[in-house]
Amino acid sequence: MKITILILIMMMFLPVLQAENGHNLWLGGVCTGPITIECSKSSTTIDLAKHELHKYWQGKENATISLQIKADLLIKGDGYKLTADGIQANTDLGILYGVYSLLRRQQTEENIKEEIVNPSYELRILDHWDNLNGSVERGYAGRSIFWHGGKDSLNISEQDKKLWQEYARADASIGINGTVLNNVNTSPLILTPNYLKKVEVIAKVLRPYGVKIYLSVNFASPSLIGGLKTADPLNPEVKKWWQDKAREIYHLIPDFGGFLVKANSEGQPGPQNFGRTHADGANMMADALKPYGGIVMWRAFVYNPSDEDRAKQAYSEFMPLDGQFRDNVIIQVKNGPIDFQPREPFSPLFGAMKKTSVMPELQVTQEYLGQSVHLVFLASMWEEFLKSDTYQAGHMSTVARCTDGSIYPQAHTAIAGVANTGRDTNWCGHPFAQANWYAFGRLAWNNRLTSAQIADEWLKLTFKPTISGDSTKQQKNQTEWDVKFLEPVKQMMLESREAAVNYMMPLGLHHIFSANDHYGPGPWWAPKGIRKDWTPPYYHQADTAGIGFDRTQTGSNAIKQYHEPLCSLFSNVKTCPEIYLLWFHHLPWDYKMKSGHNLWEEMCYHYEEGLQQVRKFQETWDRVKPYVDQEQFIIVQSKLRQQCLNAQVWKDACLLYFQQYSRMPIPYDIERPVHNLKDMIAKDMKSQHR
Ligand code: GCU
Repeated sequence: MKITILILIMMMFLPVLQAENGHNLWLGGVCTGPITIECSKSSTTIDLAKHELHKYWQGKENATISLQIKADLLIKGDGYKLTADGIQANTDLGILYGVYSLLRRQQTEENIKEEIVNPSYELRILDHWDNLNGSVERGYAGRSIFWHGGKDSLNISEQDKKLWQEYARADASIGINGTVLNNVNTSPLILTPNYLKKVEVIAKVLRPYGVKIYLSVNFASPSLIGGLKTADPLNPEVKKWWQDKAREIYHLIPDFGGFLVKANSEGQPGPQNFGRTHADGANMMADALKPYGGIVMWRAFVYNPSDEDRAKQAYSEFMPLDGQFRDNVIIQVKNGPIDFQPREPFSPLFGAMKKTSVMPELQVTQEYLGQSVHLVFLASMWEEFLKSDTYQAGHMSTVARCTDGSIYPQAHTAIAGVANTGRDTNWCGHPFAQANWYAFGRLAWNNRLTSAQIADEWLKLTFKPTISGDSTKQQKNQTEWDVKFLEPVKQMMLESREAAVNYMMPLGLHHIFSANDHYGPGPWWAPKGIRKDWTPPYYHQADTAGIGFDRTQTGSNAIKQYHEPLCSLFSNVKTCPEIYLLWFHHLPWDYKMKSGHNLWEEMCYHYEEGLQQVRKFQETWDRVKPYVDQEQFIIVQSKLRQQCLNAQVWKDACLLYFQQYSRMPIPYDIERPVHNLKDMIAKDMKSQHR
């Protein structure tokens, strides 16, 4: 009897618990009343759109909503025309996107006026660095949602399908329309029949939500799994192998998106192994996919352990090939010239390749930004990047406009984000990391959105009490919630990226992580025999004379890759923005900064500020306790404590290490380090051999 009562009580709470474990992402909400939907067309996608409307409508009760597929020249691709009581689109998917947009506006209480809403990019893709054994490279939220390890690797359970369907719905709700299912460092097995059969099933689940499948492919596949003696892209047998493979794939998945390729980079095979160029390799694959409408996303993330500054190499290799790629090849370029650092200037390839489609690659997973422990809202970084002026076609040639077709007539426009999802209940590890998935999708759809707007939307969708929520929340009035929760938490999110830059690598410092896990500080880290360009001293160049990487004419001259007036602006230490100072210049420790401090002092103040910012985030979060589900509250609170401890280690490690060279005191109005350098180095050395 007691047990039955207990079960009954537990069941009463079940919906609440489920709603608050983070699994619903930004897609909660309840319906406020019945509606009538007028729509003459029926399809799986349209049915989904109707279902979402019925289930989550929060507008006028008994409203009549019309969903209309009608061509309109002003509506582009899967865009839509929105009114308070209707959606018009060219495609079924346009209707679905319109529905999500309408529901989002209702939930966030945004004014709904007649508006045509078109996507900035045609292809909005998440790249999963998921390995076929179920692990995830740079994944911090559990194992792969697509692949299992061991003998179950190809099994597909109903649970898997449910997860894929939820994933596709989340993607569609923010406009993502493509997904790469496997790591760029890929096993060739992905192209074998058994794996392709599994891909076919995944495609079937994702299709109604408009999420197309792409695969990372290993350039050497013809020899690794095809039994050929070579993978030379100009060899007729190799060409035929790829053509046959394309036919096989499209037979299973008629709307297959195409290939993503990491070639001749970090040990991956590529056309250069056969004395051919990136263009030879990419074009051969593009030709195989062309008859079916597929594309090749060819990565420009290339660098060799040569004497050439790593930051210059992608530009040096790819610029001479501009104009040589087929029109179904897109060059995928990381936002910065090195590797997803907390702050980098934009890669000079943006805007420079004028006769080739170029797509930005962002990293949603926080490899270099505290992984799933630190609260870092990345939209601020992406906004800074997209708004950067390349000057390649005059003033206002922003990265956004250079890549979305506003300036160059690209055959395809696209943007990719390296996903942060895994099998953790809340998908992303950190509750606030969901905001980065959300932000990527929203910016891919509209690259002019501000980070403030995205944070505002996400917070309302994720945390705003709903009518069916728990009753204490219901009583808090909206204004109180706005003032006491929304505004301070939004402020925290918007400051969080700069805080991470401050406590990790301010003033243009970069890549000073310890070891290969890219988490903690390691400005000293340089084990014997390792490639120099994988060690922090290569990047910070600290010595008693100063610190920073000289990329001006007196140094590597990477500055030359930027269009004027940027080249001169960055070259001149007086005009170089201080946020990029040590990226471009090697300066003496007593160099006078704009603030009046010398460089060493300025650096100390930044590290201290970063730490204090995180302390403040802790306070902000503690204050909002009454407005957050307790489980979520405790998770974030405890992660912020860890972040704070980490920020302290970052500050102490960097200041004590660099102080050996600056030979100046840490300003006395800054809290003293609490760790010993020797201990921090020893700990790091241990983790190296883990
Ligand atoms: C980084 C990351 C690697 C990844 C690589 C890439 O270097 O640390 O794990 O494979 O980027 O983008 O290819």
